[in-house]
Amino acid sequence: MIEVDRIRKSFGRTLAVDDVSFKVDDGEIYGLLGPNGSGKSTTLKIITGMLYSMRGRVVIDNVDVEMEPNRAKQIIGYVPESTDLYDSLTPVDLFNMIGSIRGIPSSRLQSRARYFIDAFKIDRYLNQYIGTLSFGNKQKVSIISALLHDPSVIIMDEAMNGLDPKMARILREILFEYKNRGKSIVFSTHVLPLAEMICDRLGLINEGRIIAEGTIDELKEKSRQSNIEDVFLELTESKDEVYSVVEALKNNG
Ligand SMILES: Nc1ncnc2c1ncn2[C@@H]1O[C@H](COP(=O)(O)OP(=O)(O)OP(=O)(O)O)[C@@H](O)[C@H]1O
Ligand SMILES: [Mg+2]
Repeated sequence: MIEVDRIRKSFGRTLAVDDVSFKVDDGEIYGLLGPNGSGKSTTLKIITGMLYSMRGRVVIDNVDVEMEPNRAKQIIGYVPESTDLYDSLTPVDLFNMIGSIRGIPSSRLQSRARYFIDAFKIDRYLNQYIGTLSFGNKQKVSIISALLHDPSVIIMDEAMNGLDPKMARILREILFEYKNRGKSIVFSTHVLPLAEMICDRLGLINEGRIIAEGTIDELKEKSRQSNIEDVFLELTESKDEVYSVVEALKNNG
């Protein structure tokens, strides 16, 4: 279970995350939606211990992420938004490095890596520098890296980005399987139909604050909209802006 309790983070004068709280149960997929710059990635970085919150706390399976960072890292699998860090390693180097950092026994590492390498079809690229891989293949390596140690919670920041439809489907099936095994999953995405398809509950974040939370049906009812895109536009008060851009385009574009 993930408990996010009143976290806050500012960068200079920018209040990126402002008093955000939510809970994700075991076996639940929670989707974090929000406009660009609304604080999703910052929230996910605080949950994973990559950034410290200025107040409040995050507790995962009874482990306080800030107080016990090493224990927290053992139970978290994190796919970050950007994957530039390991460009000068090959996938094999990276998987071995993760195995030794995480203390995964060699035979277990081999069998888990083999499963994911086959699932995501990256056999051909195993000895190629990650920096030279295509965007989608880099993303697959990042996803595998996050899952190798069999974490009990999974945090994914726009993880479907760049995956082709088959690979996106495979990742979806893997997430459903993990959900069935009782893992908690937090997923940020801009792909609203995907959020509708996979998330049990959604949190809508705007300007650093959670402005609405619930199941898709609850959010549809709250916003009096029948499709997820209109729910998003209505709750983030963006509909008028979209119309005025269209009007301006007609007049000037
Ligand atoms: N390291 C940083 N230094 C300064 N400002 C930052 C930093 N990281 C994030 N911010 C600011 O915090 C705010 C929230 O950014 P964040 O990356 O969390 O948004 P996001 O919801 O993930 O956006 P996107 O949908 O574009 O990925 C933005 O105003 C951003 O410019
Ligand atoms: Mg982001």
